[in-house]
Amino acid sequence: MRAKVTKAIFPVAGLGTRFLPATKSVPKEIMTLVDRPLVQYAIDEARAAGIKEFIFVTSRGKGALEDYFDNAPQLEQELRRKGKTELLDLLKSTNMDSGEIAYMRQHKPLGLGHAVWCARRLIANEPFAVILPDDVVAAEKPCLAQMVEAFEEKQGNFVACMEVPEDNTGSYGILDVKEDMGTVVSTKGMIEKPAPEDAPSNLAVIGRYILTPKVLQQLNKKKTGAGGEIQLTDAIADAREGGEEVFGYRFSGHRFDCGSKAGFLQATVAFALARDDLRDDLMGYLSDVVHAPKAAQ
Ligand code: UTP
Repeated sequence: MRAKVTKAIFPVAGLGTRFLPATKSVPKEIMTLVDRPLVQYAIDEARAAGIKEFIFVTSRGKGALEDYFDNAPQLEQELRRKGKTELLDLLKSTNMDSGEIAYMRQHKPLGLGHAVWCARRLIANEPFAVILPDDVVAAEKPCLAQMVEAFEEKQGNFVACMEVPEDNTGSYGILDVKEDMGTVVSTKGMIEKPAPEDAPSNLAVIGRYILTPKVLQQLNKKKTGAGGEIQLTDAIADAREGGEEVFGYRFSGHRFDCGSKAGFLQATVAFALARDDLRDDLMGYLSDVVHAPKAAQ
């Protein structure tokens, strides 16, 4: 029988140093694109792909994230009293049902691979998705749903990928391509953050994965890689050596790297321009501000 993907891991235990000082007290995943936190985009994308169990790997200082998914009875009561039904519906749409969300703690930021490994007991022996909420993908059909479709046809491991400038390979996991079939690419390996001269291609992995339990077995070895961290990329590449297929999936859509300041700002502008209630004002402002670039000083 073909396996289905119903569980997703959201590793959110990183330090978020690129957003200090804000991330001293605000988890990066709670930062908002317009009026929705990054984590809400991630949850919506997972749900649209058929995910039923949402597993967060968190760390010290991420309490705001857990609060975000709780009911807010006082606020709801107040909105009801004031007849603000639209806002009430919006608020309710962020609630998670009891039992569909779980939190695991990563006690030390030992790397993305380690964060995923922390959730191993909740995954057991099923394929699972991994979503990094700081990678936001704007797409007509949500990125993970595209990947689930491909997974259901082929099974195996899938990593979302996109072409990056050759100079930037050192910021990503890079695919060693066996056969390029267009949307799907079969691989013969993956390297984490190679220098441009060592990169086997310019196809970079972004924060969406569908993985098999074999990857968790590899993570059990706690092998450290680039940057002295336990890298997810290495465990996926090693699962390949154990006889499993690893496919790159060229998703359709636009990926914003919201873990970086420039990417976060670009996403903010893009998502605001896509909103009817904001578009005209923002367009006007943007065309003015390019002639007065230091308005905020
Ligand atoms: P990043 O490389 O973006 O690191 O992690 P970071 O700590 O979030 O941010 P910077 O680089 O210090 O600004 C990629 C993803 O992996 C998670 C992060 O939370 C993020 O979703 N992660 C990383 C963990 O959960 N645990 C880790 O030990 C490392």
